[in-house]
Amino acid sequence: MKTPLSATAENERPRVKTSLPGPHSAALFARHDPHLTSSNADHSVYPLAEVGKRGYLIEDADGNTFADHMSAWGAAPFGPTPPHVKAAMERAWDRHGMQISGWLPNTPALALVEKLAQIAPPRLTRVEYSVSGTLAVEGAVKFMREATRRPLIITFGGQYHGESTYMAAGASSDLSNVATGRTQYVSGVVMVPYPNRFRSPFRKGPGPFDETEVLDYLDYLLVQQVHPGQVAGVLIEPVLGEGGIHAPSQVFWDRLGALCKRWGWLLCLDEVQTCMGRCGTLFALQRWQGIDPDLLLLGKAFAAGGQPIAAILGTDAIMGHTDLHLGSTYGFAPAACAGALAGIELIEAGGVLENALALERIFLEELRPLRDEIDQVGDVRAVGALAAVEFVQDKATLRPAPAFQLAVHHAALRLGVLGITQRGKWHFRLQPALTMPEALFRHSCRLLAQAIREVARAVPAERADIQQAVAEAER
Ligand SMILES: Cc1ncc(COP(=O)(O)O)c(C=O)c1O
Repeated sequence: MKTPLSATAENERPRVKTSLPGPHSAALFARHDPHLTSSNADHSVYPLAEVGKRGYLIEDADGNTFADHMSAWGAAPFGPTPPHVKAAMERAWDRHGMQISGWLPNTPALALVEKLAQIAPPRLTRVEYSVSGTLAVEGAVKFMREATRRPLIITFGGQYHGESTYMAAGASSDLSNVATGRTQYVSGVVMVPYPNRFRSPFRKGPGPFDETEVLDYLDYLLVQQVHPGQVAGVLIEPVLGEGGIHAPSQVFWDRLGALCKRWGWLLCLDEVQTCMGRCGTLFALQRWQGIDPDLLLLGKAFAAGGQPIAAILGTDAIMGHTDLHLGSTYGFAPAACAGALAGIELIEAGGVLENALALERIFLEELRPLRDEIDQVGDVRAVGALAAVEFVQDKATLRPAPAFQLAVHHAALRLGVLGITQRGKWHFRLQPALTMPEALFRHSCRLLAQAIREVARAVPAERADIQQAVAEAER
Protein backbone atom coordinates (compact mmCIF):
# COMPACT_ATOMS: atom_id res chain seq x y z
CA MET A 1 0.00 0.00 0.00
CA LYS A 2 1.35 3.40 -0.96
CA THR A 3 0.38 6.58 0.83
CA PRO A 4 -0.98 9.04 -1.71
CA LEU A 5 1.74 11.57 -0.91
CA SER A 6 3.81 10.68 -3.93
CA ALA A 7 0.93 9.97 -6.27
CA THR A 8 0.76 13.29 -8.12
CA ALA A 9 2.84 15.53 -10.29
CA GLU A 10 4.56 17.53 -7.56
CA ASN A 11 6.02 20.12 -9.84
CA GLU A 12 2.89 21.21 -11.61
CA ARG A 13 1.72 24.70 -10.67
CA PRO A 14 -1.70 26.30 -11.26
CA ARG A 15 -2.14 28.51 -14.28
CA VAL A 16 -5.04 30.82 -15.16
CA LYS A 17 -4.90 32.05 -18.71
CA THR A 18 -8.40 33.47 -19.34
CA SER A 19 -10.60 35.92 -17.53
CA LEU A 20 -13.07 34.18 -15.22
CA PRO A 21 -15.33 32.64 -16.20
CA GLY A 22 -13.56 31.72 -19.41
CA PRO A 23 -15.66 31.40 -22.58
CA HIS A 24 -16.17 27.63 -22.28
CA SER A 25 -17.22 27.78 -18.64
CA ALA A 26 -19.53 30.68 -19.51
CA ALA A 27 -21.12 28.64 -22.33
CA LEU A 28 -21.75 25.71 -19.95
CA PHE A 29 -23.34 28.04 -17.42
CA ALA A 30 -25.56 29.64 -20.06
CA ARG A 31 -26.79 26.21 -21.14
CA HIS A 32 -27.47 24.75 -17.71
CA ASP A 33 -28.31 27.70 -15.48
CA PRO A 34 -31.99 27.79 -16.46
CA HIS A 35 -32.35 24.38 -14.76
CA LEU A 36 -30.51 25.23 -11.55
CA THR A 37 -31.79 27.06 -8.53
CA SER A 38 -30.86 30.69 -8.86
CA SER A 39 -28.54 30.24 -5.93
CA ASN A 40 -26.62 27.43 -7.65
CA ALA A 41 -26.71 29.39 -10.89
CA ASP A 42 -24.90 32.29 -9.25
CA HIS A 43 -21.33 31.78 -10.41
CA SER A 44 -20.00 35.09 -9.24
CA VAL A 45 -18.13 33.57 -6.31
CA TYR A 46 -16.69 30.51 -8.10
CA PRO A 47 -16.68 31.51 -11.78
CA LEU A 48 -15.45 28.25 -13.28
CA ALA A 49 -16.82 24.87 -14.36
CA GLU A 50 -14.62 21.92 -13.43
CA VAL A 51 -13.96 19.34 -16.10
CA GLY A 52 -11.60 17.25 -14.03
CA LYS A 53 -8.72 17.10 -11.57
CA ARG A 54 -5.03 16.52 -12.08
CA GLY A 55 -3.45 15.63 -8.79
CA TYR A 56 -4.09 18.59 -6.51
CA LEU A 57 -5.10 20.87 -9.37
CA ILE A 58 -8.64 21.48 -10.60
CA GLU A 59 -8.95 22.04 -14.33
CA ASP A 60 -11.80 24.13 -15.72
CA ALA A 61 -13.49 24.01 -19.13
CA ASP A 62 -11.04 26.60 -20.48
CA GLY A 63 -7.90 24.73 -19.46
CA ASN A 64 -7.23 26.98 -16.46
CA THR A 65 -5.87 25.14 -13.45
CA PHE A 66 -6.32 26.02 -9.78
CA ALA A 67 -4.60 24.58 -6.72
CA ASP A 68 -7.44 22.96 -4.80
CA HIS A 69 -7.74 24.32 -1.25
CA MET A 70 -11.38 23.39 -0.90
CA SER A 71 -10.89 19.63 -1.24
CA ALA A 72 -14.63 19.08 -1.55
CA TRP A 73 -15.07 21.05 1.70
CA GLY A 74 -12.87 18.50 3.42
CA ALA A 75 -14.41 15.38 1.89
CA ALA A 76 -11.42 14.74 -0.39
CA PRO A 77 -8.66 14.48 2.24
CA PHE A 78 -6.17 12.82 -0.07
CA GLY A 79 -6.85 15.00 -3.12
CA PRO A 80 -7.55 12.53 -5.88
CA THR A 81 -9.25 9.43 -4.45
CA PRO A 82 -6.31 7.10 -3.71
CA PRO A 83 -6.04 3.80 -5.61
CA HIS A 84 -6.10 1.91 -2.29
CA VAL A 85 -9.49 3.44 -1.45
CA LYS A 86 -10.89 2.90 -4.95
CA ALA A 87 -9.78 -0.75 -5.03
CA ALA A 88 -11.33 -1.46 -1.63
CA MET A 89 -14.62 0.13 -2.69
CA GLU A 90 -14.67 -1.78 -5.95
CA ARG A 91 -14.18 -5.10 -4.17
CA ALA A 92 -17.10 -4.27 -1.86
CA TRP A 93 -19.30 -3.21 -4.79
CA ASP A 94 -18.56 -6.44 -6.63
CA ARG A 95 -19.31 -8.56 -3.59
CA HIS A 96 -22.20 -6.69 -1.95
CA GLY A 97 -23.61 -4.05 -4.29
CA MET A 98 -25.84 -1.81 -2.20
CA GLN A 99 -26.99 -2.96 1.23
CA ILE A 100 -28.86 -1.35 4.11
CA SER A 101 -26.40 -2.03 6.90
CA GLY A 102 -28.62 -0.95 9.77
CA TRP A 103 -30.94 -3.82 8.96
CA LEU A 104 -28.67 -6.35 7.34
CA PRO A 105 -25.20 -6.57 8.90
CA ASN A 106 -22.47 -7.15 6.35
CA THR A 107 -18.76 -7.77 6.57
CA PRO A 108 -17.48 -4.35 5.35
CA ALA A 109 -19.69 -2.53 7.89
CA LEU A 110 -18.64 -4.85 10.71
CA ALA A 111 -14.95 -4.54 9.81
CA LEU A 112 -15.23 -0.76 9.94
CA VAL A 113 -17.01 -0.84 13.30
CA GLU A 114 -14.22 -2.99 14.70
CA LYS A 115 -11.57 -0.55 13.44
CA LEU A 116 -13.43 2.48 14.84
CA ALA A 117 -13.66 0.86 18.25
CA GLN A 118 -9.88 0.36 18.15
CA ILE A 119 -8.97 3.91 17.21
CA ALA A 120 -11.65 5.86 19.11
CA PRO A 121 -11.04 7.47 22.52
CA PRO A 122 -11.22 4.63 25.08
CA ARG A 123 -14.77 5.11 26.39
CA LEU A 124 -16.28 5.28 22.90
CA THR A 125 -16.89 1.62 22.23
CA ARG A 126 -20.14 1.81 20.24
CA VAL A 127 -20.92 3.00 16.71
CA GLU A 128 -24.14 4.19 15.09
CA TYR A 129 -24.31 4.26 11.30
CA SER A 130 -24.97 7.46 9.39
CA VAL A 131 -24.60 8.93 5.95
CA SER A 132 -23.91 12.65 6.36
CA GLY A 133 -22.62 15.02 8.96
CA THR A 134 -26.03 16.63 9.37
CA LEU A 135 -27.73 13.34 10.14
CA ALA A 136 -24.97 12.36 12.56
CA VAL A 137 -25.57 15.58 14.53
CA GLU A 138 -29.32 15.08 14.50
CA GLY A 139 -28.81 11.53 15.75
CA ALA A 140 -26.43 12.65 18.48
CA VAL A 141 -29.00 15.14 19.77
CA LYS A 142 -31.53 12.29 20.00
CA PHE A 143 -29.03 10.08 21.83
CA MET A 144 -28.20 12.85 24.32
CA ARG A 145 -31.85 13.46 25.13
CA GLU A 146 -32.70 9.78 25.27
CA ALA A 147 -29.78 8.92 27.56
CA THR A 148 -30.36 11.76 30.03
CA ARG A 149 -34.12 12.29 29.69
CA ARG A 150 -33.28 16.00 29.65
CA PRO A 151 -34.40 18.43 26.95
CA LEU A 152 -31.70 21.07 26.47
CA ILE A 153 -28.57 21.12 24.33
CA ILE A 154 -25.85 23.75 24.79
CA THR A 155 -24.20 24.88 21.56
CA PHE A 156 -21.77 27.62 20.59
CA GLY A 157 -22.49 30.48 18.19
CA GLY A 158 -20.76 30.31 14.82
CA GLN A 159 -20.83 26.52 14.79
CA TYR A 160 -22.19 24.75 11.76
CA HIS A 161 -23.97 21.44 11.95
CA GLY A 162 -25.69 21.16 8.59
CA GLU A 163 -28.83 22.18 6.81
CA SER A 164 -31.58 20.15 8.46
CA THR A 165 -34.41 22.33 9.64
CA TYR A 166 -33.57 21.74 13.28
CA MET A 167 -29.81 22.20 13.21
CA ALA A 168 -29.91 25.11 10.77
CA ALA A 169 -32.43 26.90 12.90
CA GLY A 170 -31.30 25.90 16.31
CA ALA A 171 -27.59 25.49 16.36
CA SER A 172 -26.00 27.02 13.33
CA SER A 173 -25.36 30.67 13.00
CA ASP A 174 -23.25 30.02 9.93
CA LEU A 175 -25.70 31.30 7.37
CA SER A 176 -27.63 33.24 9.98
CA ASN A 177 -30.79 31.37 9.10
CA VAL A 178 -32.46 32.47 12.28
CA ALA A 179 -31.46 36.06 11.77
CA THR A 180 -32.63 36.10 8.14
CA GLY A 181 -35.96 34.59 9.11
CA ARG A 182 -35.53 31.62 6.80
CA THR A 183 -36.15 29.14 9.57
CA GLN A 184 -37.97 29.72 12.78
CA TYR A 185 -36.36 29.71 16.15
CA VAL A 186 -36.48 26.23 17.66
CA SER A 187 -36.63 25.42 21.32
CA GLY A 188 -34.30 23.13 23.19
CA VAL A 189 -31.05 24.79 22.17
CA VAL A 190 -29.11 27.19 24.37
CA MET A 191 -26.40 29.03 22.46
CA VAL A 192 -23.39 30.75 23.98
CA PRO A 193 -20.60 32.43 21.99
CA TYR A 194 -17.80 30.20 20.73
CA PRO A 195 -14.53 30.82 22.62
CA ASN A 196 -12.55 33.31 20.57
CA ARG A 197 -9.33 35.00 21.64
CA PHE A 198 -9.28 37.43 18.72
CA ARG A 199 -12.76 38.90 18.97
CA SER A 200 -14.80 39.05 22.18
CA PRO A 201 -18.58 39.46 22.25
CA PHE A 202 -18.17 41.14 25.64
CA ARG A 203 -15.38 43.61 24.92
CA LYS A 204 -14.44 46.10 22.23
CA GLY A 205 -11.13 46.78 20.54
CA PRO A 206 -8.16 44.54 20.02
CA GLY A 207 -7.41 41.51 22.20
CA PRO A 208 -6.13 38.98 22.79
CA PHE A 209 -9.06 38.14 25.05
CA ASP A 210 -9.59 35.53 27.71
CA GLU A 211 -11.89 33.27 25.73
CA THR A 212 -13.00 31.35 28.83
CA GLU A 213 -15.26 34.34 29.56
CA VAL A 214 -17.90 32.54 27.52
CA LEU A 215 -18.01 29.96 30.29
CA ASP A 216 -18.58 32.75 32.81
CA TYR A 217 -21.50 33.75 30.62
CA LEU A 218 -22.71 30.16 30.65
CA ASP A 219 -22.48 30.19 34.46
CA TYR A 220 -24.61 33.33 34.40
CA LEU A 221 -27.22 31.61 32.18
CA LEU A 222 -27.29 28.66 34.54
CA VAL A 223 -28.37 30.97 37.32
CA GLN A 224 -30.64 33.29 35.34
CA GLN A 225 -32.30 31.17 32.69
CA VAL A 226 -31.39 27.50 32.42
CA HIS A 227 -31.56 24.92 35.13
CA PRO A 228 -28.40 22.83 34.73
CA GLY A 229 -30.42 19.71 35.56
CA GLN A 230 -32.39 20.31 32.35
CA VAL A 231 -29.31 20.18 30.13
CA ALA A 232 -28.70 16.90 28.30
CA GLY A 233 -25.34 17.80 26.86
CA VAL A 234 -22.94 20.11 25.11
CA LEU A 235 -22.50 20.04 21.34
CA ILE A 236 -19.21 21.60 20.31
CA GLU A 237 -16.80 21.65 17.40
CA PRO A 238 -13.33 21.14 18.93
CA VAL A 239 -12.00 23.54 16.31
CA LEU A 240 -14.53 26.00 14.92
CA GLY A 241 -14.54 25.33 11.18
CA GLU A 242 -17.07 27.37 9.21
CA GLY A 243 -16.85 30.01 11.91
CA GLY A 244 -13.22 30.78 11.05
CA ILE A 245 -10.77 28.25 12.55
CA HIS A 246 -10.72 28.95 16.26
CA ALA A 247 -9.10 26.50 18.66
CA PRO A 248 -9.99 26.92 22.34
CA SER A 249 -7.30 26.79 25.01
CA GLN A 250 -6.54 23.91 27.36
CA VAL A 251 -8.03 25.98 30.20
CA PHE A 252 -11.31 26.22 28.31
CA TRP A 253 -11.49 22.45 27.83
CA ASP A 254 -10.60 21.83 31.48
CA ARG A 255 -13.35 24.15 32.66
CA LEU A 256 -15.92 22.79 30.20
CA GLY A 257 -15.05 19.22 31.21
CA ALA A 258 -15.49 20.14 34.87
CA LEU A 259 -18.91 21.70 34.16
CA CYS A 260 -20.00 18.55 32.30
CA LYS A 261 -18.93 16.35 35.20
CA ARG A 262 -20.51 18.59 37.79
CA TRP A 263 -23.93 18.71 36.13
CA GLY A 264 -24.03 15.32 34.41
CA TRP A 265 -23.94 16.83 30.92
CA LEU A 266 -22.84 14.67 28.01
CA LEU A 267 -20.00 16.05 25.92
CA CYS A 268 -20.56 15.62 22.18
CA LEU A 269 -17.74 16.63 19.85
CA ASP A 270 -18.77 17.43 16.30
CA GLU A 271 -15.63 16.28 14.50
CA VAL A 272 -17.34 16.07 11.10
CA GLN A 273 -14.92 18.66 9.76
CA THR A 274 -11.91 18.01 12.01
CA CYS A 275 -11.65 14.22 12.09
CA MET A 276 -9.32 11.80 10.35
CA GLY A 277 -6.19 13.88 10.34
CA ARG A 278 -7.54 17.28 9.32
CA CYS A 279 -5.99 18.90 12.40
CA GLY A 280 -2.73 16.95 12.20
CA THR A 281 -3.98 14.39 14.71
CA LEU A 282 -6.42 11.59 13.98
CA PHE A 283 -9.10 13.41 15.97
CA ALA A 284 -8.85 17.11 16.78
CA LEU A 285 -9.42 16.37 20.48
CA GLN A 286 -5.93 14.87 20.59
CA ARG A 287 -4.48 18.37 20.30
CA TRP A 288 -5.30 18.84 23.99
CA GLN A 289 -4.98 16.83 27.18
CA GLY A 290 -7.85 15.09 28.89
CA ILE A 291 -10.85 15.82 26.63
CA ASP A 292 -13.18 12.96 27.43
CA PRO A 293 -16.18 12.95 25.07
CA ASP A 294 -19.31 10.85 25.47
CA LEU A 295 -20.12 11.17 21.77
CA LEU A 296 -17.92 11.89 18.75
CA LEU A 297 -19.21 12.58 15.25
CA LEU A 298 -17.37 11.64 12.07
CA GLY A 299 -18.03 12.73 8.48
CA LYS A 300 -16.35 14.34 5.50
CA ALA A 301 -12.72 13.03 5.52
CA PHE A 302 -13.99 9.81 7.10
CA ALA A 303 -15.20 8.90 3.57
CA ALA A 304 -11.57 9.13 2.36
CA GLY A 305 -12.77 10.63 -0.91
CA GLY A 306 -15.14 7.72 -1.52
CA GLN A 307 -18.86 7.29 -0.97
CA PRO A 308 -20.80 9.35 1.62
CA ILE A 309 -20.54 8.00 5.14
CA ALA A 310 -20.74 9.40 8.67
CA ALA A 311 -20.77 7.92 12.15
CA ILE A 312 -21.74 8.58 15.73
CA LEU A 313 -19.31 7.06 18.21
CA GLY A 314 -20.65 6.74 21.72
CA THR A 315 -20.17 5.23 25.14
CA ASP A 316 -21.71 1.99 26.27
CA ALA A 317 -23.85 3.95 28.71
CA ILE A 318 -25.45 5.93 25.87
CA MET A 319 -25.61 3.35 23.12
CA GLY A 320 -25.38 -0.03 24.81
CA HIS A 321 -28.84 -0.27 26.33
CA THR A 322 -31.24 1.54 24.00
CA ASP A 323 -33.69 0.64 21.30
CA LEU A 324 -33.14 4.00 19.59
CA HIS A 325 -32.43 3.12 15.98
CA LEU A 326 -31.57 5.83 13.47
CA GLY A 327 -32.75 4.43 10.19
CA SER A 328 -30.70 5.48 7.19
CA THR A 329 -30.95 3.68 3.86
CA TYR A 330 -27.43 4.57 2.79
CA GLY A 331 -25.73 4.72 6.19
CA PHE A 332 -22.61 2.52 6.21
CA ALA A 333 -23.24 1.12 2.73
CA PRO A 334 -20.68 -1.65 2.11
CA ALA A 335 -18.53 0.20 -0.43
CA ALA A 336 -18.54 3.36 1.71
CA CYS A 337 -17.33 1.29 4.67
CA ALA A 338 -14.60 -0.37 2.66
CA GLY A 339 -13.42 3.05 1.41
CA ALA A 340 -13.48 4.54 4.92
CA LEU A 341 -11.48 1.63 6.30
CA ALA A 342 -8.95 1.96 3.49
CA GLY A 343 -8.64 5.67 4.31
CA ILE A 344 -7.85 4.90 7.95
CA GLU A 345 -5.23 2.40 6.78
CA LEU A 346 -3.60 5.12 4.68
CA ILE A 347 -3.36 7.39 7.70
CA GLU A 348 -1.98 4.55 9.80
CA ALA A 349 0.65 3.85 7.13
CA GLY A 350 2.24 7.16 8.16
CA GLY A 351 3.12 10.49 6.63
CA VAL A 352 -0.37 11.98 6.39
CA LEU A 353 -0.63 13.56 9.86
CA GLU A 354 2.95 14.80 9.63
CA ASN A 355 2.16 16.44 6.32
CA ALA A 356 -0.94 18.17 7.73
CA LEU A 357 1.20 19.59 10.55
CA ALA A 358 3.80 20.75 8.02
CA LEU A 359 1.03 22.60 6.12
CA GLU A 360 0.04 24.35 9.37
CA ARG A 361 3.62 25.52 9.90
CA ILE A 362 3.95 26.72 6.30
CA PHE A 363 0.71 28.71 6.43
CA LEU A 364 1.71 30.48 9.64
CA GLU A 365 5.24 31.13 8.37
CA GLU A 366 4.05 32.63 5.10
CA LEU A 367 0.96 34.55 6.19
CA ARG A 368 1.54 35.65 9.81
CA PRO A 369 4.04 38.37 8.84
CA LEU A 370 1.20 40.08 6.95
CA ARG A 371 -0.44 40.95 10.27
CA ASP A 372 2.26 43.58 10.80
CA GLU A 373 2.40 44.65 7.18
CA ILE A 374 -1.25 45.07 6.21
CA ASP A 375 -3.87 46.96 8.17
CA GLN A 376 -6.71 44.69 7.06
CA VAL A 377 -5.07 41.42 8.08
CA GLY A 378 -6.54 41.02 11.52
CA ASP A 379 -5.53 37.50 12.38
CA VAL A 380 -3.90 34.44 10.79
CA ARG A 381 -4.83 31.04 12.21
CA ALA A 382 -4.11 27.42 11.35
CA VAL A 383 -4.78 24.08 12.99
CA GLY A 384 -3.33 21.32 10.84
CA ALA A 385 -4.71 21.68 7.33
CA LEU A 386 -7.45 24.10 8.41
CA ALA A 387 -6.25 27.65 7.89
CA ALA A 388 -7.82 31.11 7.83
CA VAL A 389 -7.02 34.78 7.46
CA GLU A 390 -9.48 37.11 9.19
CA PHE A 391 -9.88 40.53 7.60
CA VAL A 392 -10.78 43.70 9.48
CA GLN A 393 -11.35 47.30 8.44
CA ASP A 394 -8.71 48.44 10.88
CA LYS A 395 -6.87 46.96 13.81
CA ALA A 396 -8.18 49.43 16.37
CA THR A 397 -11.88 48.55 16.01
CA LEU A 398 -11.59 45.08 14.40
CA ARG A 399 -14.67 45.91 12.34
CA PRO A 400 -15.28 43.01 9.95
CA ALA A 401 -14.24 43.44 6.30
CA PRO A 402 -16.29 40.99 4.20
CA ALA A 403 -15.82 42.97 0.95
CA PHE A 404 -12.07 42.86 1.45
CA GLN A 405 -12.26 39.12 2.04
CA LEU A 406 -14.25 38.48 -1.13
CA ALA A 407 -11.86 40.64 -3.15
CA VAL A 408 -8.94 38.60 -1.81
CA HIS A 409 -10.71 35.42 -2.88
CA HIS A 410 -11.16 36.73 -6.42
CA ALA A 411 -7.59 37.95 -6.62
CA ALA A 412 -6.33 34.58 -5.35
CA LEU A 413 -8.52 32.76 -7.84
CA ARG A 414 -7.05 34.79 -10.70
CA LEU A 415 -3.63 33.64 -9.51
CA GLY A 416 -4.77 30.00 -9.39
CA VAL A 417 -5.57 29.54 -5.68
CA LEU A 418 -9.02 28.13 -5.04
CA GLY A 419 -9.89 28.49 -1.37
CA ILE A 420 -13.04 28.67 0.73
CA THR A 421 -15.02 31.87 0.78
CA GLN A 422 -18.56 32.87 1.53
CA ARG A 423 -20.23 36.15 0.89
CA GLY A 424 -20.73 38.10 4.08
CA LYS A 425 -17.90 36.34 5.90
CA TRP A 426 -14.68 38.12 6.67
CA HIS A 427 -12.35 35.19 6.94
CA PHE A 428 -10.89 33.38 3.95
CA ARG A 429 -9.89 29.77 4.35
CA LEU A 430 -7.50 27.26 2.85
CA GLN A 431 -8.50 23.64 3.37
CA PRO A 432 -6.10 21.66 1.19
CA ALA A 433 -5.84 17.90 0.98
CA LEU A 434 -3.92 16.58 3.98
CA THR A 435 -1.39 15.19 1.53
CA MET A 436 -0.84 18.28 -0.60
CA PRO A 437 2.90 18.50 -1.29
CA GLU A 438 4.59 21.13 0.88
CA ALA A 439 6.08 22.95 -2.10
CA LEU A 440 2.72 23.40 -3.82
CA PHE A 441 1.13 24.60 -0.58
CA ARG A 442 3.92 27.09 0.07
CA HIS A 443 3.51 28.35 -3.49
CA SER A 444 -0.23 28.83 -2.87
CA CYS A 445 0.40 30.67 0.40
CA ARG A 446 2.73 33.06 -1.41
CA LEU A 447 0.12 33.63 -4.12
CA LEU A 448 -2.45 34.31 -1.39
CA ALA A 449 -0.10 36.85 0.20
CA GLN A 450 0.30 38.45 -3.22
CA ALA A 451 -3.50 38.61 -3.60
CA ILE A 452 -3.87 40.25 -0.17
CA ARG A 453 -1.25 42.88 -1.00
CA GLU A 454 -2.98 43.56 -4.32
CA VAL A 455 -6.36 44.16 -2.63
CA ALA A 456 -4.74 46.30 0.09
CA ARG A 457 -3.51 48.68 -2.62
CA ALA A 458 -7.12 49.53 -3.60
CA VAL A 459 -9.27 48.70 -0.56
CA PRO A 460 -12.89 47.97 -1.58
CA ALA A 461 -15.75 49.77 0.18
CA GLU A 462 -17.65 47.66 2.68
CA ARG A 463 -21.40 47.43 2.20
CA ALA A 464 -23.32 50.35 3.66
CA ASP A 465 -25.86 48.17 5.50
CA ILE A 466 -23.10 46.22 7.25
CA GLN A 467 -21.35 49.47 8.18
CA GLN A 468 -24.55 50.78 9.65
CA ALA A 469 -25.22 47.61 11.64
CA VAL A 470 -21.72 47.71 13.07
CA ALA A 471 -22.05 51.39 13.92
CA GLU A 472 -25.35 50.73 15.72
CA ALA A 473 -23.83 47.86 17.67
CA GLU A 474 -20.98 50.13 18.74
CA ARG A 475 -23.20 52.96 19.86
C1 LIG B 1 -18.81 20.66 11.91
C2 LIG B 1 -19.81 20.20 10.87
N1 LIG B 1 -20.85 19.45 11.24
C3 LIG B 1 -21.76 19.02 10.36
C4 LIG B 1 -21.67 19.35 9.02
C5 LIG B 1 -22.71 18.87 8.06
O1 LIG B 1 -22.18 17.82 7.30
P1 LIG B 1 -22.86 17.36 5.92
O2 LIG B 1 -22.71 18.48 4.96
O3 LIG B 1 -22.10 16.11 5.55
O4 LIG B 1 -24.29 17.03 6.23
C6 LIG B 1 -20.59 20.13 8.58
C7 LIG B 1 -20.47 20.50 7.17
O5 LIG B 1 -19.74 21.38 6.78
C8 LIG B 1 -19.64 20.57 9.54
O6 LIG B 1 -18.61 21.34 9.18
